[in-house]
Amino acid sequence: MTILIEQPDMGSQGEDKRVLSDNNDLVLHEGFSVPKSVQDTRFDAPEINSFGHSFRDYDAKSERQQTVEEFYRVNHINQTYDFVKRMREDYGKLDKVEMSIWECCELLNDVVDDSDPDLDEPQIEHLLQTAEAIRKDYPDEDWLHLTGLIHDLGKVLLHPSFGGLPQWAVVGDTFPLGCAFDESIVHHKYFEYNSDSKNSTYCTKNGIYSEGCGLDNVMISWGHDDYMYLVAKENGTTLPPAALFIIRYHSFYPLHKSGAYKHLMSEDDVENLKWLKIFNKYDLYSKSKVRIDVEKVKPYYLSLIEKYFPAKLRW
Ligand SMILES: [Fe+2]
Ligand SMILES: [Fe+2]
Repeated sequence: MTILIEQPDMGSQGEDKRVLSDNNDLVLHEGFSVPKSVQDTRFDAPEINSFGHSFRDYDAKSERQQTVEEFYRVNHINQTYDFVKRMREDYGKLDKVEMSIWECCELLNDVVDDSDPDLDEPQIEHLLQTAEAIRKDYPDEDWLHLTGLIHDLGKVLLHPSFGGLPQWAVVGDTFPLGCAFDESIVHHKYFEYNSDSKNSTYCTKNGIYSEGCGLDNVMISWGHDDYMYLVAKENGTTLPPAALFIIRYHSFYPLHKSGAYKHLMSEDDVENLKWLKIFNKYDLYSKSKVRIDVEKVKPYYLSLIEKYFPAKLRW
């Protein structure tokens, strides 16, 4: 079965040519510090994507623009605080499926992202391209390799055995609920039709939150990020907090690209964000024609899965 994911993958961000700016010390959690020499590594990003265009260049494919805008229209109308609360409660039970990380990777092998402008390979190619590109530059950070492999596994939400959620509830950029929708969010105008916009408590800068409360206390729109975070956390992964942060917020472009909502971050969030910014470059730029020999790298990733996850996971 092939499931087409019409993932807009951030229509408004434009070409991302950001360079790493994290020369600060990467203060990590116990056992996961990074040597300065490794911090200075720069990702050698390719200039063009699989289609021969610049990355995130939506002008090059204007027929996609309407699809992207329609996606965000529906997404912005339906992602409400109550909707996200319901989804977190339901999927937090992890009573859908039991399978290993690798089995899930193989399930995603049939999934082709039909509207991601940079990607026309099966999802597992993207996962392995991301992981292998990180591995090349950060050979000692095996937790970050595994994070690359699993960061998009939550897209199985589209699969019938996971509830077959619509695309607006699985992919696209994420944003907080319960406080004002920041202007930097792509196609912001459609929030006018979101019922939360009529709730005056939700329409202030802090909304129901307080400054520095920490992103862990903030409700973020529902999708593959938050789902995979729940799966990893509730199954007792030993991956470090930075890995869980990356998985949970990698589509939170208003934060890690535009710098919005920083006032809600805790000190831990500020540290973890440094890793997310590093990760994002690999997530974005590894979508190229570099083919990965799956069978060759599989033993390595199976060893990481064994190290950081129990044998079978509840999903
Ligand atoms: Fe993703
Ligand atoms: Fe990704």
